[in-house]
Amino acid sequence: MAGNLREHLVAYFEEHQKLVEAGALELLLDHSHPLVVSQEVIERTGEVSPFVTREMVESVLAEGRAPRSGAQARGGRPPDPRTAGPAGPAPPFQLLQSGYAGPPSGDTPLEAYTALFHSRYRALSRLIRGRPGLDNLRPIKELRSSDGAASVIGMVRGIRETPQRHHLILTVDDEGGSLEVLVPKDSPGARLPFLPDEVVGLRLQFAKEPQRIPRVASVERPEIPPTRTVGRARRPTRAIFLSDLHLGSRSFLSESWGHLAEFLHGRGPQGDVAASIDHVVIAGDLVDGIGIYPRQEKDLAIADVVEQYAELGRRLSDLPDRMNIVVIPGNHDAVCPAEPQPALPGNLTSTLGPNVRVLSNPSTFALEGVVISAYHGRSFDDLIPAIPGASYSRPTDVMKRMLQMRHLAPIYGDRTPLAPSARDGLVLDPAPDILVTGHAHTYGVDRYRGVLLLNASTWQAETEYQRMRNIVPVPARAAVVDLATFGVVSLDFSEGDPKLAGAAT
Ligand SMILES: [Fe+2]
Ligand SMILES: [Fe+2]
Repeated sequence: MAGNLREHLVAYFEEHQKLVEAGALELLLDHSHPLVVSQEVIERTGEVSPFVTREMVESVLAEGRAPRSGAQARGGRPPDPRTAGPAGPAPPFQLLQSGYAGPPSGDTPLEAYTALFHSRYRALSRLIRGRPGLDNLRPIKELRSSDGAASVIGMVRGIRETPQRHHLILTVDDEGGSLEVLVPKDSPGARLPFLPDEVVGLRLQFAKEPQRIPRVASVERPEIPPTRTVGRARRPTRAIFLSDLHLGSRSFLSESWGHLAEFLHGRGPQGDVAASIDHVVIAGDLVDGIGIYPRQEKDLAIADVVEQYAELGRRLSDLPDRMNIVVIPGNHDAVCPAEPQPALPGNLTSTLGPNVRVLSNPSTFALEGVVISAYHGRSFDDLIPAIPGASYSRPTDVMKRMLQMRHLAPIYGDRTPLAPSARDGLVLDPAPDILVTGHAHTYGVDRYRGVLLLNASTWQAETEYQRMRNIVPVPARAAVVDLATFGVVSLDFSEGDPKLAGAAT
């Protein structure tokens, strides 16, 4: 691993209030999954030491819990050792983190979900701890109202409004206790709505009367650091971001897909742009699946799921085979719908070309040193109703909220099924350079604290089911991102040669 991934790793430790020694860094950079090992090191050392030494990394590696090779990644070209030195460009592709962390842990569902929420709490509280705004940080069970002021980090379990004044009462939990706090209406802490199961830091003010519940003076969210090292490719290269192909559906936009293929082969007026596109990222709902919603059969052109994936193989082979294609599954794909979802199994992907990498949902990987988190976006179905003013037509607003929470799908027990793994794979750590989602079937480009946000449209026309649910799709769009400059061009393939859709961002 080279160049700017080294800087990413240093910044990653910095965000966790750790200084990484040069020897430790070298050892990590030699490993195939440096971030997985780094996370393990941070978990082990906790608050004990502000330094990460070579010995600490060695001891994690000696236990052999971190993976040695990219077992989740299939196909694709192996990294070329000639281009992977500190002075050379970064490797074209590197898997950093698979969201899927294996089958559930624990003997009972209760134990398994408890482990999941502990993992989330620990991962996110590590990002909040040490903030100057959180003085006198205490475990909930050690709080005393005589303290006057103290801070806690808690997971939001309950949110209700007081009947007359509309102040908020939050119930927050940490690993050893539970607490009710008051967020006064119109106070700075009430500026962003709270969401169930997000992790927040709260600075509290205790009243003189011990029976009154403490007030929230300020709120710290995990957030994207205001200044951070941003990954950039060191050579001119571009990536195109797509989503929600829904192959097998009668409403797959075959003609528009043809226009996309023509463009990528350089057979249009924008041939020079196409020639620099080396990467294709597809954010899930690769096929339409079967039995996903009531009476789906009548919307299907291909009613057999294996055949749908064979069609996916054919459609991807329409694109130039020099391009590296990365795909993750979505809620229509034929894997367990509980998130994080594993990568598609081999029996469904044998028809995909050797240039296609099949990853889990979500996944974090680097393209030419640029860190990308790809998540299908099922949690839009829970977050949009929970955030006042949010809508499917502006998915990037919801994605900003994901970055502030550093979590892709916090809400438990609603429409997004969560898999009870021992590690919460939906925590967004490290912070990516690009976050891409789909699922909304709309198109959006925005930026938040240097992170590029993309919602990558769809290749399915409006279905009756969507009409029923009042979702107006924005199909056949694609974002082309220059990985060296981060310039974005939005293209519309609905008619013939691509048209610029909106101004370059
Ligand atoms: Fe979809
Ligand atoms: Fe979806």
